[in-house]
Amino acid sequence: MKKLFFSVLIIASIKTQAQQDMKMKSFVGGLMSRMTLEEKIGQLNLVVPGGGTVTGAVVSQDVDEKIRKGNVGGLFGVTGPERLRKIQDIAVKNTRLHIPLIFGLDVIHGYRTVFPIPLGLSASWDMALIENSARIAATEATADGICWAYSPMVDIARDPRWGRIAEGSGEDPYLGSRIASAMVKGYQGSDYSKGNTLMACVKHFALYGAAEGGRDYNSVDMSRIKMYEYYLPPYKAAIDAGVGSIMTSFNDVDAVPATGNKWLLTDLLRKQWGFRGLVVSDYTAVNEMSAHGLGDLQAVSAQALRAGLDMDMVGEGFLTTLKKSLQEGKVTLQQINDACRRVLETKYKLGLFEDPYRYINEARPARDILTPATRAAARDIAARTFVLLKNNRQTLPLKKSGTIALVGPLANSKNNMLGTWAVSGNLNDAVTVLDGMKNVAGNDVKIIYAKGANITNDTALAKNVNVFGPRAEIDAQTPEAMQQEALNAANQADVVVAVLGEASEMSGESASRSDISIPECQQQLLKALVKTGKPVVLVVMNGRPLTLGWEAQHVNAMLDVWFPGVEAGNAIADALFGNYNPSGKITASFPHNVGQIPVFYNHKNTGRPLEGKAFQKFKSDYLDVPNEPLFPFGFGLSYTTFSYSNIKVSNAQPAGNETITASVTLTNTGSYAGEEVVQLYITDPVASVTRSVKDLKGFQKIKLQPGESKEISFRISPEQLKFFNSDLKYIWEPGEFIIQIGTNSEDGEKITINWK
Ligand code: BGC
Repeated sequence: MKKLFFSVLIIASIKTQAQQDMKMKSFVGGLMSRMTLEEKIGQLNLVVPGGGTVTGAVVSQDVDEKIRKGNVGGLFGVTGPERLRKIQDIAVKNTRLHIPLIFGLDVIHGYRTVFPIPLGLSASWDMALIENSARIAATEATADGICWAYSPMVDIARDPRWGRIAEGSGEDPYLGSRIASAMVKGYQGSDYSKGNTLMACVKHFALYGAAEGGRDYNSVDMSRIKMYEYYLPPYKAAIDAGVGSIMTSFNDVDAVPATGNKWLLTDLLRKQWGFRGLVVSDYTAVNEMSAHGLGDLQAVSAQALRAGLDMDMVGEGFLTTLKKSLQEGKVTLQQINDACRRVLETKYKLGLFEDPYRYINEARPARDILTPATRAAARDIAARTFVLLKNNRQTLPLKKSGTIALVGPLANSKNNMLGTWAVSGNLNDAVTVLDGMKNVAGNDVKIIYAKGANITNDTALAKNVNVFGPRAEIDAQTPEAMQQEALNAANQADVVVAVLGEASEMSGESASRSDISIPECQQQLLKALVKTGKPVVLVVMNGRPLTLGWEAQHVNAMLDVWFPGVEAGNAIADALFGNYNPSGKITASFPHNVGQIPVFYNHKNTGRPLEGKAFQKFKSDYLDVPNEPLFPFGFGLSYTTFSYSNIKVSNAQPAGNETITASVTLTNTGSYAGEEVVQLYITDPVASVTRSVKDLKGFQKIKLQPGESKEISFRISPEQLKFFNSDLKYIWEPGEFIIQIGTNSEDGEKITINWK
């Protein structure tokens, strides 16, 4: 009975969907029948007027005039209901067909309430938390007139030199897919036209994170199996979650720039994956196809349209050349119509034809943006992204008594707390670590602050990271004087907390580094602090995995806090004083040194795998560094300890499409309540193609009281055993599988099963 009821419901909803689609098609068709060629091409033009947030090298000119002429489909980088109402007025009141504009923005990790950078958010392994961060961001952005967010960024990255690793979820396709889907749900809700939800835009399609040498915008070349297995799943997951739009990437894919790649944008995206939404280029990516070597602006614009691109961001190649290309037979009217229809359908789905001012409400910013409730959420979320990398003899949590020397160039900085890509954030909203420590410590703690060092003494590097304003200022005091002040503080203290790392703009777009250590002058400070013999807690700020070999050996405790957002200082103090017990786990491996890169957990076995850790001649290893990273994927400690025991499966010899369960007993063996991310990995030791040594296939975040035990189970079916074979078929092959359940990608309980 129940089943029948649900089937009727599903059929009814499919029917309504089909009716809605018909209604949309007939509305858009009717509108297009009245449009001139120029008006159609105008809809494909996405501009950035300047004066607001500019994220690329050029800005659009004469925007008001272009809107009036029907030469603009949408714009981005402008916020605020008052300004956007004026702009929408031009489109709706002063153009021939009154077609509304869509307003986009880079809403990446929060809006004005800035959350931790995405790499940090991913370290929470908490899908509800991540979804909620996107939900709050959507509420705030729509309150400010935005209906289209250029997020989630889901590019898999195995190279921490690449600055944009900060914007994604690390190295794993399964975790990356789960996060992609959570973020789309958070932004779009069940319907993105509600006025407080918005349309998400998954980016950068595709493979942008595999830039050679980690240098931004560099070429990408990889096998199809590697694409399908490791790099494409998160984009696909966002599409399956219903994302409304997708942004192409700057790089080439199979030697054709993504923005003009027909295989990528039409064969894969639309035909294989069934994507029906909007495809927009990245910033001037159409024009950049010329530098890639694909011809002049007319040629590359025609190629991009033919490939399946709908909207041209900033570069105006479509606007200025498509008419000529049509006359010369280089594109067809059908291709222009298809792109225009998809832009108009997007506006229809956003409800803009019904009400062009749906997202424009002057009363909302004061009510919805940066409220006490969103700040409280930001504080809670940030604390849950921190990763405890080391904690010798329980140096942490700190006691709420005694004297603390708080030192480091990031200890009293507002400018670096928000992290990269916080275009709507206000640096002044950020809580410094010093203020946070004072807020949380209580009256029995004395805090002595000293800056101790610059972020870097290298003036050329400082200049490069200060393009959006001061992030790595060089102090008027000499390095020696600063260091001495810090040592004086340390000598008076019971414990030293050193807040060191990168400036916020040392990661992000166009911020690749070839040396990913903590800058030299800060290392010198740390060495001097360690020499005092006082216990040293290192709080690391970073937009990428860093090389922290010396630090990991010599400091007493190490907490990675990424860039935590507006509530940085409060959240850090919550974690340091134990009001929150850290539960994050890293989502990208931390290498010993740059020469090890790429180092990632789901690598291949090779024909000459190293057994054990010691160097062996004629095995796949290095003379001078281990094969394993310094900290593996999935690693993170807690103030308490957890033990894993008693791994078992419901059936060690399953057959066909059976579903089995694999379980372990997890026990909190320490003295604090805490959360553990229990991770499931599967190894397929024999297959028709070479497989990775293991793949993440599931995880659960579990909270346990001291002494408490719980059985944690995962369901496993052949779906989790599937891989892409040489024919790019997604299949599984019977045989032996090793199930590993544990605390990180290297350590866990194992059991072997035989699946027939
Ligand atoms: C970035 C995109 C961003 C776009 C618009 C580009 O430079 O690669 O991620 O969405 O600018 O700001």
